[in-house]
Amino acid sequence: MPLVTTTKMFDDAYAGKYAIGAFNVNNLEIIQGITEAAAELRAPLILQVSAGARKYAKHVYLMKLIEAAEQDTGLPIAIHLDHGEDFEICKSCIDGGFTSVMIDGSKHSFEENIKLTAEVVKYAHERGVVVEGELGKLAGIEDDVNVSEEDASFTRPEEVEEFVSRTGVDSLAIAIGTSHGAYKFKPGQKPKLRFDILEEISKKLPNFPIVLHGASSVVPEFVETINKYGGDLSDAIGIPEDMLREAARSSVCKINIDSDLRLGMTAGVREHMSKNPSHFDPRQYLAPGRENIKALVRHKITKVLGCDGKA
Ligand code: G3H
Ligand code: 13P
Ligand code: ZN
Repeated sequence: MPLVTTTKMFDDAYAGKYAIGAFNVNNLEIIQGITEAAAELRAPLILQVSAGARKYAKHVYLMKLIEAAEQDTGLPIAIHLDHGEDFEICKSCIDGGFTSVMIDGSKHSFEENIKLTAEVVKYAHERGVVVEGELGKLAGIEDDVNVSEEDASFTRPEEVEEFVSRTGVDSLAIAIGTSHGAYKFKPGQKPKLRFDILEEISKKLPNFPIVLHGASSVVPEFVETINKYGGDLSDAIGIPEDMLREAARSSVCKINIDSDLRLGMTAGVREHMSKNPSHFDPRQYLAPGRENIKALVRHKITKVLGCDGKA
């Protein structure tokens, strides 16, 4: 099966009350860890690439690695641009074979966001590519952009119908209290998501796929391992998994996960190198990182997303 768009994945996920995992990829081991777990469980997949990932690994390498993963597993895989910030990067990814792009106009005014998003949608749809837009601002760090808590803002339900109808987007990322990175809540703060806002949005957009960014749970086992072997992530706090499960059963059809993959890879490498300080073959220390990613994705698919057996 060639790389696919997210259209059928989202239709099925909406109807079946589950979500698709959208995992950020940067290199071979991350792609293999994710796709091997999904292949075992026959789960559809979205592999997403940020501007930073394209800069690190180059578009063509990631494209070819993902095509290889698709050939190897036979899974329906969508290749998606994560947080495209302007028309040019979206165009470059569409021209370069991506099946889905995100145009993140959330830092602009409502009108500017609509104008930019509609422009990307027009270009994408003419080429059979789907588009994710964003309304509302998440806190946290993406690439080098750090959105402080004061600048973050929840999505306003009264804006979503107009945004979707005037832009023609295929899915919408919203802000209901998740944030990017490993520090999602302050120490001692009780994690909370605004499910009331999600419900209002879902009522205004029936049968429309919603996307949740910043949805890593910051897996405690990985944090403990990193801390045990010389790291310091003592204040890291993620989104509780029961909240993610609740989101997956609702109109949320795509759940974005990056930080958990980073933690899994780092925990594997740190543990291996601490126990085997004389090793210098990258295969020896990257393999445990890849195994952690595989175990993580298996867990997410079966216990959080509910998309096992849906490919
Ligand atoms: O939302 C952002 C993702 O975690 C990607 O992070 O831009 O550092 O690759 P990055
Ligand atoms: P996390 O930092 O919670 O993994 O979020 C990733 C994300 O939203 C990518 O777009
Ligand atoms: Zn994001």
